[in-house]
Amino acid sequence: MLNQGAEPGKVSEPSWPIIELAFSHVDALLALESSGVSRLMSPQLLADALSSEQHRVLAVADGDDLLAYAVVARQPFDAELEAIMVAPALRRNGLGARLMKAVIETAQAWKVEHLLLEVRASNDSAIALYRSLGFQQDGVRKGYYPPQKGQSIREDACLMSLAFQ
Ligand SMILES: CC(C)(COP(=O)(O)OP(=O)(O)OC[C@H]1O[C@@H](n2cnc3c(N)ncnc32)[C@H](O)[C@@H]1OP(=O)(O)O)[C@@H](O)C(=O)NCCC(=O)NCCS
Repeated sequence: MLNQGAEPGKVSEPSWPIIELAFSHVDALLALESSGVSRLMSPQLLADALSSEQHRVLAVADGDDLLAYAVVARQPFDAELEAIMVAPALRRNGLGARLMKAVIETAQAWKVEHLLLEVRASNDSAIALYRSLGFQQDGVRKGYYPPQKGQSIREDACLMSLAFQ
């Protein structure tokens, strides 16, 4: 059965592998994405990333179930993290950090200069995750994100990067 996120109370298993997704995983990926409170990427963008030579879509898998995913894009000199999400019931179990380390290894294998990302200024958990892995804040893009549900003001983006040798 395909995953609808994760069962409440399920705890992290170190044996869950990180796999690279192919287009055949599209339904499982969309099921995981729709289990989150807010969408990070549209279904079309996720499907495009799965078919793109310039993207890698990585996931933590429990059999056919996907528990977390990340999308990273290769650019001429840098790589960019386009999304990372852990199923709500499994957050704060180390899966986000494991997945980010796999994203960093992917970018290093591409021999790019930096891994770049943008994150909502209010997203304390994601910013703490990135800082714990050595990312630095490079700047702020004012009013970059549309308002969150129930709010009327656009939100700033923090621009962060991890530099490679
Ligand atoms: C951000 C996200 C991917 C983190 O995944 P996670 O599996 O919960 O993170 P981890 O358990 O691996 O945490 C690793 C470190 O990140 C930081 N962190 C993660 N969640 C945190 C929280 N709620 N509060 C404070 N620090 C947090 C901590 O430094 C943590 O290390 P510690 O547990 O040893 O203190 C997850 O919260 C998520 O999916 N959020 C919704 C989607 C999202 O916002 N994506 C980012 C868009 S740019």
